[in-house]
Amino acid sequence: TYEKLWLVAAMVLIVGFIATITYGSVGLGIAMVDDSEDTLDPNEINDHEQFGDPGVVQVGENEYEAYVRAQTWTYNPNTIEVPENSEVTFYVTSPDVIHSFSLVGTNVNTMVIPGEVSSMTVEFDEPREYGVVCNEYCGQYHHDMEGTVEVV
Ligand code: CUA
Repeated sequence: TYEKLWLVAAMVLIVGFIATITYGSVGLGIAMVDDSEDTLDPNEINDHEQFGDPGVVQVGENEYEAYVRAQTWTYNPNTIEVPENSEVTFYVTSPDVIHSFSLVGTNVNTMVIPGEVSSMTVEFDEPREYGVVCNEYCGQYHHDMEGTVEVV
């Protein structure tokens, strides 16, 4: 019947969309795996086990965790270096106001809310340098808030 034909057509369209999105990610040499949020007391961030001394930690053969503090008006650490063919989970929080953590030219983009931990897992296939920018207005030097992810 026609109803079945429409159903099949709709399915084909959906699969097509997913394929397009997947291709878009792979084409950048980047793929997002997971996206979730936890909570944290903003007043304790500077004494926090990971966020007090943020940086990259190796947790598996090709797996890394990158702890980042987004704060007025910089990222700490400002340069995040990870190897190629790695899977990196970023954990980003803010001790002050709302920022974002956005890799220029990719779909990696998360809002960073004080007291919340934004996390996302990204696969980096090839050596490349990504700019990190803040897309949320956070005050006087918002436009200077930049960092770098170096895949080496
Ligand atoms: Cu931080 Cu805009």
